[in-house]
Amino acid sequence: MAPVSNPCYRLISRPSGYPDPVKNFQYDTSGSIDPDTIDLKGGFLMQTQFLSVDPYMRGRMDEGTFDAWELGNVFMGYGISEVIRSEIPEFQEGDILYGIHRFEHYTIHEGWEAQTKKWRVIHNFENLPLSVYLGVAGMPGKTAYYGMKAIGQPKAGESIFVSTAAGVVGQTVCQLSKAWGLKVLGSTGSDDKVKFLQEDIHVDHAFNYKNSSTADEVKLFGGLDIFWDNVGGQILDIALANMKSHGRIIICGQIARYNGENPYGIKNVFSMVYNEVTMKGLYVNSYEEQYSEEFYSTVPKMIADGKMKYTEEVVVGLEHAGDLLVKVLKGQIMGKVVLQMWA
Ligand SMILES: NC(=O)c1ccc[n+]([C@@H]2O[C@H](COP(=O)([O-])OP(=O)(O)OC[C@H]3O[C@@H](n4cnc5c(N)ncnc54)[C@H](OP(=O)(O)O)[C@@H]3O)[C@@H](O)[C@H]2O)c1
Repeated sequence: MAPVSNPCYRLISRPSGYPDPVKNFQYDTSGSIDPDTIDLKGGFLMQTQFLSVDPYMRGRMDEGTFDAWELGNVFMGYGISEVIRSEIPEFQEGDILYGIHRFEHYTIHEGWEAQTKKWRVIHNFENLPLSVYLGVAGMPGKTAYYGMKAIGQPKAGESIFVSTAAGVVGQTVCQLSKAWGLKVLGSTGSDDKVKFLQEDIHVDHAFNYKNSSTADEVKLFGGLDIFWDNVGGQILDIALANMKSHGRIIICGQIARYNGENPYGIKNVFSMVYNEVTMKGLYVNSYEEQYSEEFYSTVPKMIADGKMKYTEEVVVGLEHAGDLLVKVLKGQIMGKVVLQMWA
């Protein structure tokens, strides 16, 4: 095969507020590769199939944050690839791999980078669309599963409030909660999303936080055993005031302040004291070893059996990464957003 183009997607300046894809990012088409002849140096060559666009990426673009990206570097994120050639015994040509990817069409992993622990071969026994392994059956689904198991520790009959309930993490938390016998309240940012939560996922109650009072809705629902926080700020403060004795709060995300918004001053921390409420930060990767096998033997099967629904938007073309990230951050998409490299 003659050399082919190997485009990539880079961060070239740091956003203030919501990213501006034209100013902050670059779709760089200058690279090329000959997949048949390039020296693998004892590693393997992957052809990217799908890449995941996630809210946490916004944080990586700020200076000095956790795992911050250097200017000029290629975006990094979860993806699904096919192994094109391999010089290591663990991966064979045709294997489908899940793991952290560079945002580019072809990637060589040579030397130490070829460590197999960083990748999971997706066997896809349930024959699901591969994109799903980036959504409810991927990192966001794991976030929901691991967080509920490790921190939420739900018991049938308990109540849970899920913020950003129609997002991909939120959808999964809501459906696991229903499957485990919880009473579920979800908040979200549009009437369509409310409809999805009520009619497709069958939460007990959902509301649009943009046109109703979160404080009134939570109070009406009754005390909370668990609060799943994807948002932070005022919604966390309201939940704090409504926790039951020995309630658990899972701090999963704080999207209300990802784009430079002023932090909201939390007022209701003292209500945790006599109720002995636990609040704990969740970092999905910390629980990978503990729960990943259980997750992969549970969630793909739930999806195949129709017991775990999902919504996703699959867009073809790496050049759309930046626009899609902005849409995700602004709540203009319901559920997962996945970039497909090839039509
Ligand atoms: N801790 C971890 O290890 C971990 C792992 C994965 C994800 N996360 C976090 O989990 C959260 C959900 O992630 P996801 O991938 O499922 O994304 P998502 O919920 O599908 O997308 C983000 C959603 O946030 C909502 N939103 C945006 N600005 C908001 C605001 N100011 N107030 C309230 N809602 C706002 C929007 O939905 P609405 O229409 O409802 O407003 C938007 O659709 C994010 O905060 C993410 O960073 C954490």
